[in-house]
Parts: sequence; C-alpha cells; structure tokens
Amino acid sequence: MSDVNNAKVGIFDSGFGGLTVLRAIADLMPREKLVYFGDSARYPYGPKPKADVTRFSVEIADYLVDRHAIKVLVVACNTASAFALPELSERYEIPVIGMIEPGARALALSSVGERIGVIGTVGTISSGAYQTKLAELAPKKRLVCAATPGFVEFVERGETESDQLTVLAERLLRPIVEAKVQSLLLGCTHYPFLARAISGVVGAETILVSSAEETAFQVRAELIARGLEARGLGVPTTTYITSGDPTEFRRVGQNLLGIDLCEIETHSWSAGWR
Ligand code: DGL
Repeated sequence: MSDVNNAKVGIFDSGFGGLTVLRAIADLMPREKLVYFGDSARYPYGPKPKADVTRFSVEIADYLVDRHAIKVLVVACNTASAFALPELSERYEIPVIGMIEPGARALALSSVGERIGVIGTVGTISSGAYQTKLAELAPKKRLVCAATPGFVEFVERGETESDQLTVLAERLLRPIVEAKVQSLLLGCTHYPFLARAISGVVGAETILVSSAEETAFQVRAELIARGLEARGLGVPTTTYITSGDPTEFRRVGQNLLGIDLCEIETHSWSAGWR
C-alpha cells in the first residue's frame, strides 16, 4: 500500500457535530485512519459572518494538510460547507467534500411526500445553499427552511435532552410543524445528537434525515475513484484534536459517541503553529 493510501482522512467541525460524520465514515470504511478537528474554542460558527467562518475553515484545513498530510478533507459542518467550500476546493489538490450536496441528495431521495424541510444554523439557512441545491434536485417539492439558533450550544454542553431544549425546539420548529413537513433534513451535523428531542416536537410521522451516511458514501466514492482508499489490514486509528479544553472534549465527546476517545491532542490558535 502506498503512503498516500495509508494517509489519514481529515474531518473538521466547529465542535462535536462532525463526530456524527466521523462515525458514519468509520462504519463504512473501518480501515481508514481518521483525524478529527473540533474547533471548540471558536464555536458556534452558525451566527458568525461568512468571512470569519471561511478564515477558520482555511486555518483548520491548512493545519490538517500541513501537519497530518491528509488525503481527503471532509468539511463535516454545514455552515462551513455553505460558506467556504469553493475556497477550500480551490486551495488544495486533495478532494474536499462538504455537507450540502450529500444532504440535499439524501433529502430528495428519501422524501416520500411533497413537503420537505431543512433545519440548520442561521448561517446555513441564510446562505441559501440548500434552497438552491434542492431547487435543482427536487424542484417539485415544497420546501420549508428554519434556522434553529441555540441547538448547537446544547450539544456542546452535552445536553441532548432537557426541558429547556424542548421549550426552544417547540418555538423554533413551529414553521416545520405548521407546514406538516413529511421529511426533515437535519442540516447541521450537531443535530443527530438531538434527534430524540427534535422528533418529540415534530412528531413520529415526520422522517428525520441525517446527511452523515450519504456524506460517508461520497467520501468512499471519491477515494475509490482516485485510487486512494486504504487497502491493507493496518490498525485504524482516530486522532482527535480540539482547540478547546481537552478534558471537556473527552467528557462530552465520550458521552455523545458512547466510546472512549483515547487520543486527544490540543491546538491553540493564539500560540500560532507555523
Ligand atoms: N455542526 C455545524 C454545522 O453543521 C454547527 C455550526 C455551529 O457551530 O454553529 O453547521
């Protein structure tokens, strides 16, 4: 196996959300080595301007490319995908995969009825990225989008079920409930961790669609198309890097994923790294 085949798959998010994508990639491609960057020190990305999110994304991607020699970059954050994907794709020779296209495809393919919905951060929804993609992929469907600010913070605290979360969800998901959406895309990688609370509000008859699996399939297809997939029986490893507090990252990350996050490294932006 060549060095490139043996190289890591790089995945990043503003915090813990991208772990939902990491899990899908690990399930689909158990031989791949993974490196995950959670920018916990600078989350949430959702309310931040495009220029800031793009700069953060480029800094993380540069770090993963330069320090970890990754063979593919997975932008496991919808907000960063909506804002920074063109710049990231142009900047590197390695394939760069975002969430919007797989997410829109997963929703379009899985929707049985004519009413579909997307929830995401303020940045993702106001960027219009899903509205544009779904107009292309599912032009006959009636789309309702809702921004759900505050959801990400619950996940980052490790609070996936509580009365406060339910109260917030009831308020923010009202447009989705009123439109009687039949299939709802969780257009933020943090939201699968809140699936119980979201489903409790929108009702069991609304199908919740996560884009993690579809994104993992796209990563696999891209690696195979370029002959970059891991082929041997090497020991797969996952390295976690956080720009925040590693003890907190381990505590919350382990609670969310239900597995031991053994190798946690830290990276401080203030210290500089070049
Ligand atoms: N997981 C990120 C996303 O998919 C959350 C962004 C945030 O930090 O607000 O958009």
